[in-house]
Formats: sequence, C-alpha cells, structure tokens
Amino acid sequence: MKLERVLQYTKTLLSLSIEKGEVAVDGTAGNGHDTLFLAELVGENGHVYSFDIQQQAVDATEQKLKEHDLLSRATVILDGHEHISKYVHSEIAGAVFNLGYLPGANHQIVTRGNTTIQALKQILTQLKIGGIIVLVVYYGHDGGTEERDAVIDFVSGLSQKHVHVLQYKFLNQKNNPPFIIALEKIKQLPEESY
Ligand SMILES: C[S@@+](CC[C@H](N)C(=O)[O-])C[C@H]1O[C@@H](n2cnc3c(N)ncnc32)[C@H](O)[C@@H]1O
Repeated sequence: MKLERVLQYTKTLLSLSIEKGEVAVDGTAGNGHDTLFLAELVGENGHVYSFDIQQQAVDATEQKLKEHDLLSRATVILDGHEHISKYVHSEIAGAVFNLGYLPGANHQIVTRGNTTIQALKQILTQLKIGGIIVLVVYYGHDGGTEERDAVIDFVSGLSQKHVHVLQYKFLNQKNNPPFIIALEKIKQLPEESY
C-alpha cells in the first residue's frame, strides 16, 4: 500500500472525472505540466482552456504542447482565470489550479484568494454533474496563508447537497507542503447560493 502523493492524487482525481471529447480548464498554466496532462485526457475531440496572466507562462505552455504535438487540443489564454466565463461557453468536465507563484519566475506574481474564488464560482456554474475542480494549495509564500484561508472559508460554506468538498493533506510533513482541495459537483447550484 502506498498513499498517493499530492501531485499523483491530483492526476487520479482529474482522470476519474474527465472523459475523451470533453472540455477541461487549467486555471494556472505556469510551465504547462497540467495543461499537457489535460490535453492527453480530453483526447483529439476534446479541448482544454488554459489561463495565465504571464506571457512567459503562456509561451512555456504552448511550447510544451507543441513538443508533444498537442497544441491543437488547447487554447492558452493570456488573462486571469477570474474571466473564465468570457472564454469558455460549454460544459466543463474538470478543472485544475496550482496556487502560488511560477517556479523560476517573479515570486511576487501569485494567485490571490479573491480572484481564485471568482474563478471557482464561474467554473462551478459550468461544471458537469460529477465533474471535479482540483486545487493544489501552495501557501508558503507571502500572501499564501491569506489565499489558503479565503479559499477554505469559501469552499467550506458550499452546500453539501450540491458539492462534495475534500481536503487531502499529509499532516506530518514539514515546510508548508502543498495540499489538495477537491470540489465534486453533485447537483446544479442555485446562483444565489454563492
Ligand atoms: C504554481 S504556478 C502554476 C504551475 C503550473 N500548473 C505548472 O504545471 O507549471 C501559478 C501560476 O498562476 C499564475 N497566476 C497568478 N494569478 C493568476 C490569475 N489571476 N489567473 C491565471 N493565472 C494566474 C501565475 O502567473 C503562475 O504562472
């Protein structure tokens, strides 16, 4: 028996929810690792919408897709994930966010609670029943604990009739290791509920 580590469990959750031909979202493209994984999951008839506010991340993600000959399966958008509903109009099968900063880039450019929550609300509205949103929460940087607490506060308030909210976290690891928050949509949420 080996408990899946955070990054492996993220992939397991996404692959259980997203099927070939469906639409997936990467809320934080970064170096494109998750976008590439999603592009493989959705297959040739599906599509991935990937967001980042840094040109460097958009370029790195497009380059990674090109190297694997999968560029046509994804649209990489230079804009904040809080504008997802402007770009994605179809049902979403699954989404992933890696919170924090882009490794190797400016550590001041980080995800923020307010915009992360705006993105979650938009995706929850468009998520299929049985679809999943996986957040990998890194919080060791400046502003990280504020974002972590804001996101936990928001997801903890979601009605259990509509969304199952999971936290997956190793409690005895040192140095602020990342943990997972996963949201599984069970039933369409009334707009006024968030
Ligand atoms: C931890 S990194 C993502 C790592 C990425 N998943 C990978 O596989 O390399 C977080 C990314 O979120 C981006 N970001 C910050 N605020 C954002 C926002 N409002 N919308 C979209 N991306 C944002 C940063 O530019 C950074 O590239």
